[in-house]
Amino acid sequence: MQRSKIAGIGYYVPKNIFTNEDLKKYMDTSDEWIQERTGIKERRYADRLGETTTTMGVEAAKIAIERAGITPQDIDFIVFATLSPDYYFPGCGVLVQRALKMKEIGALDVRNQCSGFVYALSVADQFIKTGMYRNILVIGSEKHSFGLDFTTRGRNISVIFGDGAGAVVLQPTQTSTGPGGQGILSTHLHSDGESAEILAMYNPGTHANHWTAQPVAKFDAAEMGQMFMSHAMIDEAQNFPNMDGPAVFKKAVIKLPEVVMESLTQNGLTTADIDMLIPHQANLRIAQFVQQKLHLSDDKVYNNIQKYGNTTAASVPIALCEAWEQGKIKEGDLVCLAAFGSGFTWASALIRW
Ligand code: UT7
Repeated sequence: MQRSKIAGIGYYVPKNIFTNEDLKKYMDTSDEWIQERTGIKERRYADRLGETTTTMGVEAAKIAIERAGITPQDIDFIVFATLSPDYYFPGCGVLVQRALKMKEIGALDVRNQCSGFVYALSVADQFIKTGMYRNILVIGSEKHSFGLDFTTRGRNISVIFGDGAGAVVLQPTQTSTGPGGQGILSTHLHSDGESAEILAMYNPGTHANHWTAQPVAKFDAAEMGQMFMSHAMIDEAQNFPNMDGPAVFKKAVIKLPEVVMESLTQNGLTTADIDMLIPHQANLRIAQFVQQKLHLSDDKVYNNIQKYGNTTAASVPIALCEAWEQGKIKEGDLVCLAAFGSGFTWASALIRW
């Protein structure tokens, strides 16, 4: 079976830098608290009107496509990961197809939050392996700044997230099989929905409190639209994400090392073989914990949360692209991507660069 490789990679972050000091104007927080608990110094926010999740994804995609030595018309499938789409529906994939004047190719949106990009990469990898497509564009992009509560009520979440996008082009590679051959060696996807509500945005949605309270059974024409999204929901901040941070933290530091080990074991490799680990940029403390658990030296883990915050589905491709641009990933290196987040979902990908 044909293996896939990353033939081109790019990222885009908005110009507008928002520091911890800037956030203090809107909520009761401090640079000291944010840096100590998360490692974040600043993040980028998209232009309020001029940039969307899709336009940022398109900018990252243009770079990835050019570096792959192809044109947008050569792309034969799009996989777009985001939790902050331009529209509730349709998804961002079709907007990319339109913006880049691509052929009438398939476009799929993936909704796996922080692990969205690794899931999207895995989906694309399967299509390449079966020979169905030859040039797949995989994008992770987020415009979080539009959906955050910039008051003290939302400070445990708002200080963490930032905007940005990353993209890769996947192509088939003619390679020897086994861990020495170039390309994606394996991907590993997991979920545990038991704690779905502890990191979630509840509305707009169709749940009608089914999962958390007694369901309202009867059809009521007047109420239907109101149950999807109402003034009361906005007053109760249900249009903003909710998170039990410490609970997410505890699970992340178990599942991330586990899913890295799973990828190594499947390929007959050990942590000593890793040249670069790209962990999802959720919290510098989580990444450091994972590094420690896997006994990796500082030069084998790439972090950039300090300047971008947590960009959810965009965090892994942005970090991967930066590490590669800085010469920290070279041909033949063993690169591991690992992510954990809302759902819970978590995933890894092991790549011979
Ligand atoms: O990428 C998606 C996956 N998400 C994650 O992986 C996030 C995982 N969790 C975390 O990163 C951390 O739990 C947080 C950074 C979200 C929070 O850090 P923490 O050390 O777990 O703090 P905490 O939530 O236990 O809150 C400690 C205190 C509280 O005050 P009291 O109750 O001790 O008086 C919070 O109200 O810190 C307070 N607090 C803040 N203070 C200043 C919460 N947010 C802030 C803030 N500024 N922004």
